[in-house]
Amino acid sequence: PAPGWSLEADIVVVGSGVAGLTTALRCSAAGLKTVVVTKARLDDGSTRWAQGGIAAALGEGDTPEQHLDDTLVAGAGLCDEEAVRTLVTEGPDAVRRLIETGAHFDTGPEGAIELTREGGHHRRRIAHAGGDATGAEISRALVDAVRAQSIPTVENALVLDLLTDADGRTAGVSLHVMGEGQHDGVGAVHAPAVVLATGGMGQVFSATTNPSVSTGDGVALALRAGAEVSDLEFVQFHPTVLFLGADAEGQQPLVSEAVRGEGAHLVDADGVRFMTGQHELAELAPRDIVAKGITRRMQEQGTEHMYLDARHFGAEMWENRFPTILAACRAHGIDPVTEPIPVAPAAHYASGGVRTDPYGRTTVPGLYACGEVACTGVHGANRLASNSLLEGLVYAERIAADIAAQHTGNTLHARVPAPVAHPETPPHPLLPSEARFAIQRVMTEGAGVLRSADSLSEAAARLARIHAEAAGALAEDGKTAEPGVDTWETTNLLCVARVLVAAAQRREETRGCHWREDRPDRDDEAWRRHIVVRLNADRT
Ligand code: SIN
Repeated sequence: PAPGWSLEADIVVVGSGVAGLTTALRCSAAGLKTVVVTKARLDDGSTRWAQGGIAAALGEGDTPEQHLDDTLVAGAGLCDEEAVRTLVTEGPDAVRRLIETGAHFDTGPEGAIELTREGGHHRRRIAHAGGDATGAEISRALVDAVRAQSIPTVENALVLDLLTDADGRTAGVSLHVMGEGQHDGVGAVHAPAVVLATGGMGQVFSATTNPSVSTGDGVALALRAGAEVSDLEFVQFHPTVLFLGADAEGQQPLVSEAVRGEGAHLVDADGVRFMTGQHELAELAPRDIVAKGITRRMQEQGTEHMYLDARHFGAEMWENRFPTILAACRAHGIDPVTEPIPVAPAAHYASGGVRTDPYGRTTVPGLYACGEVACTGVHGANRLASNSLLEGLVYAERIAADIAAQHTGNTLHARVPAPVAHPETPPHPLLPSEARFAIQRVMTEGAGVLRSADSLSEAAARLARIHAEAAGALAEDGKTAEPGVDTWETTNLLCVARVLVAAAQRREETRGCHWREDRPDRDDEAWRRHIVVRLNADRT
């Protein structure tokens, strides 16, 4: 169908987590006409679910240099050092500005921000809010600020594709909006700058800490638009996710690293601690090492989970410091005050994404990416705990500054280019929503924590069959699934799953959170480089 509605703006921000809303606030403050579009409600993304906190060198004696060192070690040789330096040096002030925007962090008796520890950090560096509800507080503060500034927002707006002008420059995005009054149906926001802040793709696996909206929409859009994506093989599996059964599907409750940061121990089926002796930081080793330690011990013992033991915290500490996790455990019949918590790794974070430069610019002119959807180079092969909210903040401010610098008077708005065409039909067959579960099963079995050449080629073949079935139906009788959120999401999931598997096949070594059973060693000579994919034009 032809687009039923359209808006014009200087900049359209796609997504409403910390990255999207910070970009929108800073752009709006710079006088740019800003529109935020988001797939569900403003606070429905991953940011709201963040528990542990936000890392920044705010504590006495801590320095950006120490934060840099820990980030580089976690990133296993693939971080872009300059990008990390930007993150850690601009981080503390960006957090202070977030506080000025209205976020309240937990403070000690003297009024200083309380800091905790998480995996890979050699010191207390993680600011938190509401004990273990940091993301919820950040999201609240940013949503309030966006509303206070009356920044136009369109909710329930699934982004479809990038619109470009005759020169290939960004001209806006097309969207499918459901149930939002004047913007209902397929429409477009025309703008010369588009910021993708669509979050991650955890839903590509069966069990994930990500909410149901994390379906890789931004990466899929960027791929279709011809942008480069990088490092997609580096999917981070969080080591301690509440284990609710081997067949549990969808979003699973996280048990924050901060619980280990405050002294909880991982124990096996016999009650024995197993991370001591594996790494100098034991349970607080970088997250890939803990996830591997847990997976190995599960294999050795033939069990489906390990345990996190924090009974020694006592009821009062559990209630004050970790109220969200306590409630989630109790809701599932587990009382961490009196019993160890069953935990297993689950998909948590995409360390890779749409490749950007230090100002969040992608390889398509006018298209930016920020937050989990982006690959700025700060995470390398494995993100350091609690660096993600920080990345969203810091790079949002850089993007806003870059766009504002191009805005002299009203020139940016005046330059809104005429889009060449609206995508009236999907670019390839839309998948039926039932295919989502098949994709998730394939990915969990073949491209999960532990991978091999065989498991990956089996996964690639099964994904190709899912695509061929949908393409066959389209070719035979012109049938494609009905356009809607479910079918678009499923189509995006298949797109990112196939690229992720191809990247994982290509990287024939073990590094960071990419663990190849058949290639158990890190190979700096052949593989200290990135796998960059552009649709129909891969390169390493
Ligand atoms: C957690 O609280 O363990 C998650 C922190 C993160 O993913 O950075």
